[in-house]
Amino acid sequence: MTKELDWCNLSFGYIPTDYNVRCRFKDGKWGPIEVSSSEYVDMHIAATCLHYGQEVFEGLKAFRGKDGKIRIFRLNDNAERIRQSAEGIKMEPVPQELFTEMVKMVVKLNERFIPPYGSGASLYIRPLEIGMSAQIGVHPSSEYLFLILVTPVGPYFKEGFRPTNICIMRQYDRVAPKGTGRWKVGGNYAASMTAGEHAHELGYSACLYLDPQEKKYIDECGPANFFAVKNGVYITPASESILPSVTNRSLMTLAEDMGIKVERRQIPVEELAEVDEAGECGTAAVASPVAEIHDLDNNIKYVVAKDGEPGPVTTKLYNRLRGIQLGEEPDVHGWCTIVE
Ligand code: PLP
Ligand code: COI
Repeated sequence: MTKELDWCNLSFGYIPTDYNVRCRFKDGKWGPIEVSSSEYVDMHIAATCLHYGQEVFEGLKAFRGKDGKIRIFRLNDNAERIRQSAEGIKMEPVPQELFTEMVKMVVKLNERFIPPYGSGASLYIRPLEIGMSAQIGVHPSSEYLFLILVTPVGPYFKEGFRPTNICIMRQYDRVAPKGTGRWKVGGNYAASMTAGEHAHELGYSACLYLDPQEKKYIDECGPANFFAVKNGVYITPASESILPSVTNRSLMTLAEDMGIKVERRQIPVEELAEVDEAGECGTAAVASPVAEIHDLDNNIKYVVAKDGEPGPVTTKLYNRLRGIQLGEEPDVHGWCTIVE
């Protein structure tokens, strides 16, 4: 079956794989790990995830390296973040060891779906946890299902590593100022759909959200963090309403390794007029360059990529990140977990 997959032309979609892995929390403890070949979940019609959105998830990737080895990128960081997300909305946190064991297991079980080295594709790993107790009162579930599915993916944007345009639309917020933005909860994505679809209808790759309190500063960009390069400095928003992106953290570290100064701070919208490069970063988006940012409310166009090409710093960071993920460059920070 995998012979039929056109590895070099995969999109960021869902392709069925052989197995998913599951674990249930019940009676105060996590049960055994189950390996399933079903693509469905059987649940009670009153489960808290269905009614009150008790759901947290993660996104990470496994790669087939130049040396033929399988590398999972920053597994522990994703384990830590799903724990924080779960605590954020009063769900049972998945223990780090359980998360790690299940991710390695599901990757190994679906090894034939890991795209080959050189294809540009990867195996996307999607862990999720949902509240399963049957109850109608609004309070946390006492039963949970943690499951991990995997699917081979290509680039998130059809343009690949080509600059796209994004837009600012002040009528939309993804999250509230002291809300759930720092956690990876399904509700944030539900709240982003109208803005996202509106942006896509207008031909933009994403909506660039402003801080929901004052609408003065850049927050994040669709399902990705925002970064820019200004006078040789990597700048990225400091905000409590954005997801702490593992990719962004990695890019900041790589930038510092390259002698590039990094500033995590508030970025006023008007400062976009002074940036030399901009990008959207995340597991799915990797580091996708931005060409122009259109402030639709004020009819202002910030032309970032003057020649329409990805900028030199974004390109260097993208290549270094990819190099580490694919085992082409030394993993000096110990970010990759090799699955034997
Ligand atoms: N911001 C949002 C809203 C996201 O959904 C994602 C994707 O995971 C990111 C940022 C990037 O985070 P990461 O680099 O950890 O994938
Ligand atoms: C990711 O980058 O892993 C995401 O979760 C973004 C999106 C596909 C939801």
